[in-house]
Amino acid sequence: MTPAQDIIVAIDGFASCGKSSLAKSLARALNYRHIDTGAMYRAVTWYFLENHVEWRHQAKREDALDRISITFQNHNQLNHTLLNGVDVETVIRSAAVNQEVSEISVFGDVREKVVALQRVMGKDKRIVMEGRDIGTVVFPDAELKIFLTASLEVRTDRRYQELILKGVLTTREEVQENLLKRDYIDSHREISPLRKAQDAWEIDNSELTILDQQALIVKRIREVWGMAEHV
Ligand code: DC
Repeated sequence: MTPAQDIIVAIDGFASCGKSSLAKSLARALNYRHIDTGAMYRAVTWYFLENHVEWRHQAKREDALDRISITFQNHNQLNHTLLNGVDVETVIRSAAVNQEVSEISVFGDVREKVVALQRVMGKDKRIVMEGRDIGTVVFPDAELKIFLTASLEVRTDRRYQELILKGVLTTREEVQENLLKRDYIDSHREISPLRKAQDAWEIDNSELTILDQQALIVKRIREVWGMAEHV
């Protein structure tokens, strides 16, 4: 289905609460683009680590930011993140990036660069964009804002299973510690902290499948924004 009116769907929430899985699936159902903004902060982090940028040093950080371009490419319906034209989709999910990404995402210059790109990507609407500040800062006028939550236990399990399947050696405790650390930094930073937009629809998906969540959201979109005539 495609909504009759072009809209922006903003999905925000804490780490590992299923934003990407939902956003991917919803974008496919709506025939919209999916933008994973966390991947953009991860790409910046990967660049800093790979190039030994002293990112706490403002001038060095800003100089490095000027040398970064981030784009997305669609392969078999999946978005791959390109950093200066190179596919970094796998490496940006590494433990090294997980450790640093939240600390790097607090800087105003980093956010300014990434948010400007996001606004260009959403200028014609027809996107499902997920992150931490999409409904509050990037697109405060987004038609539909969703604030996704899930219990800490469920989030830890999901992330742990994901890492084990990828062959990463870790423990549940380690995974939970990283989630809590990122959530704390993401929601306490000065610029664009993670918080629920006043007009966001909160969905706790601890006990919902992706299809359950999608059905709820598509129903709302049909009711409010209708469907295009050709569908
Ligand atoms: O969604 P994710 O876990 O891949 O995001 C990684 C980090 O990027 C997250 O811990 C904080 C940062 N981030 C952000 O500051 N703002 C966003 N809109 C998306 C992610």
